[in-house]
Amino acid sequence: MEYWEKEIETMPRNGLRFLQLARLNTTLEAAVRSSYYGGLAKRDRSFRTRVGEVAELQDFPFTTKQDLRDHFPYGFLSLPTKEIIRLHSSSGTTGNPTVIYHNRHDIASWANLMARSLFCAGVRDTDVFQNIVGYGLFTGGLGFQYGIERLGALSIPAGAGNSLRQIKLMRDYGTTAIHAIPSYLGRLLEVFREEGLDPRTDTSLRMLVIGAEPHTEEQRQRIQEMYGVKAFNSFGLSEMNGPGVAFECEFQQGLHIWEDAYVVEIIDPATLEPVPDGEYGELVMTTLDREANPLIRYRTRDITRIIPGECPCGRTHRRIDRITGRSDDMFIIKGCNIFPMQIEGVLLRVPEVGDDYRITIDTVAGQDDMIVEVEVKKEWFRGDLQFLDALQKRITRLIRDEVLVSPVVRLVEPGSIPKAEGKAVRVFDKRIR
Ligand code: COA
Ligand code: AMP
Ligand code: ZN
Repeated sequence: MEYWEKEIETMPRNGLRFLQLARLNTTLEAAVRSSYYGGLAKRDRSFRTRVGEVAELQDFPFTTKQDLRDHFPYGFLSLPTKEIIRLHSSSGTTGNPTVIYHNRHDIASWANLMARSLFCAGVRDTDVFQNIVGYGLFTGGLGFQYGIERLGALSIPAGAGNSLRQIKLMRDYGTTAIHAIPSYLGRLLEVFREEGLDPRTDTSLRMLVIGAEPHTEEQRQRIQEMYGVKAFNSFGLSEMNGPGVAFECEFQQGLHIWEDAYVVEIIDPATLEPVPDGEYGELVMTTLDREANPLIRYRTRDITRIIPGECPCGRTHRRIDRITGRSDDMFIIKGCNIFPMQIEGVLLRVPEVGDDYRITIDTVAGQDDMIVEVEVKKEWFRGDLQFLDALQKRITRLIRDEVLVSPVVRLVEPGSIPKAEGKAVRVFDKRIR
């Protein structure tokens, strides 16, 4: 078996616990240099800067996405801005985004975790690796980029979009590995077929890395059949750097979560108490190797479980199961995270919009689409087609600017969207998974 960092990846659990404890204490000291955790440590005695055991973390308060938003932009920063070299942030044109800062150490540590993750899935320096996700503020672009370079494979920073060009790049440079979101691989296959090509015979692909959105084992199997190669699950979130948090090894039996870099807890999202290994709950994570923006007991909202037992690959870092859902209402389409509140916020700003709206997510011709039906107020819902057309375009643009995905907007008559009982459920997910 080959490893990127054998000593760390196969470290006995006792050694790992010792390493975690030392790093946790350094992290806690760094955390209180931020105004948020500094204030918390003064107010709340359960927040300490030194613990004798990692398990003591369970007494600490959680950190949530809302905390990050409420203390935007610098409340969680533990270093002077002079030392910061990069930020990544969530989408949104109104309200506070969530932002994470990195110093040189953080970027180097993340690149190494990414290289370790890719190596763990089987990528080698002889590979030609095409990264088909968004660059810029998305972490999947630069996160993978730095990891591929650290590993020494030839990187093609293709970015998202333009499927024809993606196929040309793959064929021109003999791409052997790609990273893409699972739902996009269906669309890409369609374009292969339109060109009279079959990725199984007309490319040099030998593996795929898929992630950034939930998918089922069946979906993975379909992708593997379509492309004729194995597809490895990659998990991460911007608050924990981005990709490189947990990755599948060649055995594809769950994702090794790098415990030298994170403390992992699974809690019951209702009681907030820990659940035993093997049971599903919400993933809570503490950073252990980040200097600029440490986070303590961050509630990811992702639902998973610890897979009990050891992995045949010899890595001692525990495995989480594929993400099965979330404990909040965020959904992901085309690799972009969306909260229904963002859409509601946009619609509230349009005076012509009436009382109700409904979001449907569907797979149409191999591609996921978001359909937003919007009721228009009676006085505006008249026969003036030009006006309604302009309104439809305006709403489309406003939503796209907010969530980075172009919706299909349908204007409908007031009262035509069925009223939901009690708390309105406004998102219908009909995607094939
Ligand atoms: N990855 C790569 N390409 C994608 C994609 C995705 N997730 N989703 C759509 N595309 C492609 C489409 O296939 C289309 O290209 P094609 O017609 O040549 O096949 C092109 O991007 C535009 O798609 P469209 O659906 O018309 O655009 P949109 O305005 O709704 O979405 C994107 C724009 C694709 C740029 C935006 O959704 C995006 O940046 N997604 C990528 C997010 C990402 O990478 N997330 C992972 C971060 S870790
Ligand atoms: P972002 O912070 O934009 O990178 O989005 C992170 C979120 O994407 C996570 O909290 C998950 O909900 C989701 N996600 C990332 N990777 C995966 C994956 N492999 N499987 C399922 N969901 C994922
Ligand atoms: Zn393994």
